[in-house]
Amino acid sequence: MKKVILTLTIILCISTIVRADEGMWIPALLQKNEAEMQAMGMKITADDIYSITHSSMKDAVVLFGGGCTGEIVSDQGLLLTNHHCGFDWIQKHSTVEHDYLTEGFWAMTMEEELPCPGLTAKMLRNMVDVTEKVLNGITNETTDEERAKIISDNIKNIIESVQKDTEYKVSVESFYIGNQYFLMYNEIFTDIRMVGAPPSNIGKFGGDTDNWVWPRHTGDFSIFRIYKDGKPYKPDYHFTISLDGVEEGDFTFVFGYPARTNEYLPAVAVDQEANVVYPVVVDLRTQILDIYNKYQEKDAKVRLQYASKHAGLGNGWKKWMGVIEGIRNFKGIEKKKAFEESFYDWCQKERRRVIYTRALREFDDVYAEYEKYRMATTYFTEAGLSIELIEFAANFAQITEVTKDTPQEEIDELVNALKSATATFFKDYYQPIDEEVAVTMLEAYRAAQPEDFRPEILNEIDKKFKGNVKSYVNYLFSKSIFTSEEKVNKFLDEFTPAKVKKIEKDPAIVAANSMMDFYVENVMAKSRECNAKINDLRRVYMEGQMKMIPEVYPEKRLYPDANFTLRVTYGKVGGFKPKDAVTYGYFTTLDGIMQKENPNIYDYVVTDRLRELYEAQDYGRYADKDGSMHVAFIAGNHTTGGNSGSPILNAEGKLLGLNFDRTWEGTMSDLIYDPSICKNISVDIRYVLFLIDKYAGCTRLIDEMTIE
Ligand code: ARG
Ligand code: ASP
Repeated sequence: MKKVILTLTIILCISTIVRADEGMWIPALLQKNEAEMQAMGMKITADDIYSITHSSMKDAVVLFGGGCTGEIVSDQGLLLTNHHCGFDWIQKHSTVEHDYLTEGFWAMTMEEELPCPGLTAKMLRNMVDVTEKVLNGITNETTDEERAKIISDNIKNIIESVQKDTEYKVSVESFYIGNQYFLMYNEIFTDIRMVGAPPSNIGKFGGDTDNWVWPRHTGDFSIFRIYKDGKPYKPDYHFTISLDGVEEGDFTFVFGYPARTNEYLPAVAVDQEANVVYPVVVDLRTQILDIYNKYQEKDAKVRLQYASKHAGLGNGWKKWMGVIEGIRNFKGIEKKKAFEESFYDWCQKERRRVIYTRALREFDDVYAEYEKYRMATTYFTEAGLSIELIEFAANFAQITEVTKDTPQEEIDELVNALKSATATFFKDYYQPIDEEVAVTMLEAYRAAQPEDFRPEILNEIDKKFKGNVKSYVNYLFSKSIFTSEEKVNKFLDEFTPAKVKKIEKDPAIVAANSMMDFYVENVMAKSRECNAKINDLRRVYMEGQMKMIPEVYPEKRLYPDANFTLRVTYGKVGGFKPKDAVTYGYFTTLDGIMQKENPNIYDYVVTDRLRELYEAQDYGRYADKDGSMHVAFIAGNHTTGGNSGSPILNAEGKLLGLNFDRTWEGTMSDLIYDPSICKNISVDIRYVLFLIDKYAGCTRLIDEMTIE
C-alpha cells in the first residue's frame, strides 16, 4: 500500500512541474530554451528573436494600450492586434452616421487613418538583470519591513542613475515574486492611428456565446499604425507573413505581453481561489447576467445599452467556471498537495531549509485569516457595486465633503466632472434591470455576510424594513434623486456647499457610504496586511522551489509568473480531447461560419458580402492547400490575458496568425498548466488578409506587407 501511495505521489508531483509546452520565458534568457525549441522544430535562433546588438523580432512586438499585444507587419509601422483590443477605439470613432463597430472601418489612404489620442504602444528595447543591485543590503537578519524599504530605495537609485542617460523609459520589474529583478528600457509611442477593422459580426463573430470556446470562428483583428514625429514609423524589424498555414504537430511560438499568472501558489491558495472565491463570483454574476439577458432579449435598445456591461461581466464569469471545473477534473489541489509533500521531504534533508518548511506551513493560517476579508471584498465589489445606482452615487462621495471653505474653482471642476459622469451613466442605464439586480444582490450580500461583519445598511434592512429587501429597494429607488438624470443635473446646476447636508441623506448616498465606510474601516487595511504577509511567504516559498526543482527534477526549468513583461512561449499545433468521447480538430474554416449562421441571433449574423465570397469560393492565394478558407487554429502555447493580439509564429519566425483566446477547458492554466487541455486560439493570418484584400478591398495595406 505504502508503495502505491508513494508512486502515486511521484506521478502527481511530476505533472505539476514544468515540461515542454509549459512556460512563458524571458526573451533575454531565451538561449536556455534554444536547444529545446530547435528540437521541437524551430529553424531560427534565440538571437533572431531577441537581441540587443542587432535588430530582432522583439523590435516588432508592442504592448498595445494597457492590456494587449500588437505586432508590426510593414516597414511603415503597420500594426496588427485583436478586434477586441481595438474595440474601444473603434467605438470612440463611431457616430450614428459612421458606425464603424457595425460597418467596419477601412482607411483607404494614409490621410484617412484616425488619430487615437491617449493610445500608446510600448516597445522593449533592452532588459538587464539587476537582482544584485536591488537586493543589496539585505541579509538573513533583515526583517520583511526593512526589506521592502531597502528594495524600494535601491530601485529608486537605479532608476535615477540610468534614466538621465537614455531616451527610453526605464523601470525595474520583479520576477519570481521578488527573487529576480530586471531593469527594462522601453520606447513609448504616443501617436497611434486607427487604420482598419472588420464589422463586428466578423471581428466579434460568435460574441459572448463562443467566447473562450473552441471551435471558434472569430475574425478577431484590427489594424493600427505607429507614427513617430508625425510620420509613419520605420521599425527596426517587421514580421514577414507566411501563407503556408499550419499542420498538426507544427512548431509555433507566441511573443507577447502576458499579464498575470500564479503558477507557484500553495495548495491552500488554489483551493481558496477555485473552491471559495470563484464559485461565489460566478454565482453572483450568473444572477446578474440572467437579469440582463431577460431584459436584453425584450428590447433592442436595452441590448445595446447593456452589451458592453454584459461582455465585461461575462468574460470573467465564463473563464472562472472553466477554472473551477479544470482544477477539479485535473485534480489540481491534490497535485499541489503531493508536490508539497515532496517539497517537505527535500527540506528535511538540510536543517537550514527549515525556513522554507516554515513558510509553507504558515500559508494555512494566513489564508484562513485572509478568507474573511477576501469574501468581504468580493461581496462589496461583486454584489454591492453591481447595483449601478449605488456605484453611481459613490461617485458623489467627494462632493459631500465640500464645505463653505472649498475654493469655488475646485467645486466647479468637481461639478463638471460629475456632469459628464452623469451623462455617461444615463446613456446606458435601464432602471428595471438595476432594481432587480439590487434586490438579488442585497439578498445575497445579506445572507452571506455575518451580522457583526457587514455594512450597516444591511442591518438597517432588518431593523427598518423587517428584513424585506424588496421594500427597502422600493424605498431606495423611489426616494433617491440618482435614478433621474434631470434631478441629478438640477442638483449639480444649483449646487452650493449648503446643499451637502441634504444630499448626504439621499438613500443611494447613504447606501454607498455605508458600504464604502465598512470596507475602508474594517476590510481594506486587514486585507493589505494579509496580502503583504502572503507575498513575503510566497517569495520565500518561491526561493525554495527555485532551489528544489533543479535538484529533484534536473530536467525541468522554471519560468517566472506573468507580470506584464514581454515573454516567449512555444508549443505545437494540434487538437485535443476535452472530455470523454469528444475530440477537437485543430482548425476551423469558413464552412463553420456558414453552419453557425443565424440571421436572427445577433452573434451569428453573416453579411451578404462574406456569403458571396464564400459562395464564389473566391479566396485567391489565401486558400489553404485543401482549398478551403481556414479561420482559426489551436496550439499548445502557454498564454494568458494580455497575450491577446500576440503574433503566433512558425519555425522560421514568420507570422501565422494572431492569438486571441484560450480553450475553456484549459482556462485553469493561470494556476496550473496541463498540456493535454490547455490550448491557445489564434485567428489564421490568411483569413485576416482575405478580409483586408477581398472583403474590404484595402489592397494598399496588402501591398506594404511582406507576404511569402
Ligand atoms: N476571452 C477573451 C479574452 O479574455 C476575449 C474577450 C473578448 N470577447 C468577448 N466576446 N467578450 O480576453
Ligand atoms: N482573451 C485574452 C486577452 O484578451 C487572452 C487569454 O486570456 O487567453 O488577452
